[in-house]
Formats: sequence, structure tokens, C-alpha cells
Amino acid sequence: MQKLADHIIFIGFMGSGKSSVARRLARFERMNCLDMDTYIEREAKMSVSQIFKLEGEEGFRLREWEFLRSMLIRDRSILSCGGGVVVEENTRELLKQLGTVVYLKVDADEAVARISRPETRPLLSGERSPTQILASRLSLYEDAADLIVDTSGCSISQVVAQVQRLLHEADKL
Ligand code: S3P
Repeated sequence: MQKLADHIIFIGFMGSGKSSVARRLARFERMNCLDMDTYIEREAKMSVSQIFKLEGEEGFRLREWEFLRSMLIRDRSILSCGGGVVVEENTRELLKQLGTVVYLKVDADEAVARISRPETRPLLSGERSPTQILASRLSLYEDAADLIVDTSGCSISQVVAQVQRLLHEADKL
């Protein structure tokens, strides 16, 4: 897949640490950092939960795609994506074009334990368990990733250090 931009993009399940890792890496590397959910909420003037209620998951996925498309013309940044960014094929294609995709891997139990405000994640009150949702996405995360970091039992600092090492090795920092 041809790269059309040079962002560093974090993907992974809810609670995998994407936002915290992205923020800290951006601080260390003096790079701009954008959080997809925050950006979408600001654009929509609604919370993620309200968007799910009003527009359904479909409407939210469209907003994710629009966010990523707008990143094609943004200066190099660190992007932290929502956990479901790999669900739609056209969004996965955009991800690949936008730069280096880093998958923060975590199992469902550890992820759920790390989520401080589960009520802000509409999918966690749906029919499928976190384990089922993660299982349905595992290969999508892996296929979308340029780099994979196993975050099990790791602190944010340890994950950031690991990400920096891999990005240096890949000549992306
Ligand atoms: C979602 C993950 C959430 C948010 C929305 C849907 C998902 O983001 O985008 O609730 O489908 O996994 P986080 O991964 O930042 O929690």
C-alpha cells in the first residue's frame, strides 16, 4: 500500500493505552498529537455515546473515516485512533496510506480492567462481550499493523520505550 503521509498511528482495543502512549510519545518527540475520539466529539459537538445513539455505529464509523481522510493533508503527527477503526475496510485502507501503524496488543480482560470510565464506551454495554469483540478484530489489527507491541503487564513508560525503540529501528523517528 502506497504511503501518502508520514504519521505515526496507534491502533488497538479499548484500554490498550493508545491515547496515553501517543500523548507521552508526542511530548518526548516534540510532535503534534491528535486523539480521534476527542476530535470527532469536538466536530460533532456530541459525545461518542450520543453519536452512537443518534447516528448508530454506522454514523460513528463514517466519522472515523472522515477524520482519517482529513489527516492526509495534515503535517506529520501522532494519531491515536478509536478501538474500532479497523472495522471498516475503506478505513483500514486509509490507515495504511497515512503512515506507520503501531498496534498496541492487549488481551480483553486486561483491557477492560484498564478502562476507567466504561460507561463512555457504548460497545461495552452491547450484546457482545469484550472477548468476542476483540476476537472478531484480532486479525484486522494484525493485518493493519506495521509494528506490533505486546503491552500485557506493561506500564505506559515501558510501552513508550518499546515503541520508540521499534520506530527508531524502522527509521521512523
Ligand atoms: C470503540 C472504541 C472507543 C470509541 C468508541 C468505539 C470501539 O475508543 O471510539 O467507543 O469500537 O472499539 P477507545 O479505543 O479509545 O476506547
